[in-house]
Amino acid sequence: MDPKALASRFPGDFIFGVATASYQIEGATKEDGRKPCIWDAFSNMPGRVYERHNGDIACDHYHRWEEDLDLIKDMGVSAYRFSIAWPRVVPDGVGPINEKGLDFYDKLVDGLQARGIKAFATLYHWDLPLALMGDGGWTARSTAHAFQRYTQTVIRRLGDRLDAVATFNEPWCSVILSHLLGVHAPGERNMQATLYAAHYTNLAHGLGVEAVRAEAPKLPVGIVCNAMSVVPASDSTADKSAAARAEDFHNGLFFGPIFKGEYPAGVVEALGPLMPKIEDGDMATISQKIDWWGLNYYTPARITDAPDEPYPSHGSGAFVKPDKTDIGWEVDSSGFIGVVRTLYKTYDLPEFYITENGACYNMGVGEYGEVDDQPRLDYYADHISVAADMIAEGYPLRGYFAWSLMDNFEWAEGYRMRFGLVHVDYETQVRTVKKSGRWYSELAESFPKGN
Ligand code: NOJ
Repeated sequence: MDPKALASRFPGDFIFGVATASYQIEGATKEDGRKPCIWDAFSNMPGRVYERHNGDIACDHYHRWEEDLDLIKDMGVSAYRFSIAWPRVVPDGVGPINEKGLDFYDKLVDGLQARGIKAFATLYHWDLPLALMGDGGWTARSTAHAFQRYTQTVIRRLGDRLDAVATFNEPWCSVILSHLLGVHAPGERNMQATLYAAHYTNLAHGLGVEAVRAEAPKLPVGIVCNAMSVVPASDSTADKSAAARAEDFHNGLFFGPIFKGEYPAGVVEALGPLMPKIEDGDMATISQKIDWWGLNYYTPARITDAPDEPYPSHGSGAFVKPDKTDIGWEVDSSGFIGVVRTLYKTYDLPEFYITENGACYNMGVGEYGEVDDQPRLDYYADHISVAADMIAEGYPLRGYFAWSLMDNFEWAEGYRMRFGLVHVDYETQVRTVKKSGRWYSELAESFPKGN
């Protein structure tokens, strides 16, 4: 699809950006006072991350950030979504501030300003300081307060130069994938831990919003969610009711408190005794109005009823369309607009950004230095055209961020799964813009830059 024709379907002030996250790209895990996070520990345990890959070096972005910002500028992209590593800024989670850690982000933000690239920062993209596990990590109320102090520290230093800030990235992952499904750090499989982590993450979000507003009242603050695009796998009553339960649990556990000030009634009824004590004022703190929210979307969740799983998160492969990316996720852009329609119908939502969308294809550099990733280009063309449909339907979509700027540490999958518009050779750290990256540049270049 011609990128210029696609660009013409978006308003002139629309933002096209690229996204990354600290643990996935920075490396330098032991430098300048940074202390371990839960992913340093998790990736070191046998059987958790593919071939025990870890973030020690990653894309070496901590040392190559200037080159990487030049790359973003050369691609003609107008915004960069990145995350700040809590274990760099407050290495023990609470207590002394590490000025050198803050300095890194200070330089990064100045570097973005100097290049006319908008700065969208995320405060928590899963690298919880390991020291906080001593108190229970996200299952402890004290972690929510520690997050508030960390937020205050970051925003006091950077708030004047950020264009937007998100408290959390994908709480579904840091709560449910991490405490119920055991796939992400800290790798628990326990419903009570999950419900505690959900409430204290939600509370941390609310306390974080307060800290941002106190330090930088004009800075737009929001949260990024990978809302599940729930579709019953069949017309059977069992699958339809499993899908309704999945919607309630997987989306409702976060959207309910944040946008309605309450946990979903069905979840409270079924799991109430396992939930932590909700103290006076908690729900008001969590549900205070935010300026924006972000949607991360990759694939729909076709839900089949599963007798041993009250809140299924996936269906059987038999119902999934044959077109899949290299990580095995179904390609279906109808789920992209589907989830937006459902959420705006169910909740009172402010304006939004697509804060992540993209596809995993693992092709490498060819004989002539070219990375021919046509399927990724097709995925982007298809999904960005659906983003234009969202605007045409009247949804307040303000920007779109591709995941990811470059190949990086794909969590439990290690480095074998590649989502970048730019290829990274992990031996040499050479970056090569892929065919999809050149296409995305042409699209992004049609929009004005500068702050
Ligand atoms: C969501 C996460 O925010 C990001 O860290 C991850 O790499 C991508 N999705 C792809 O799985």
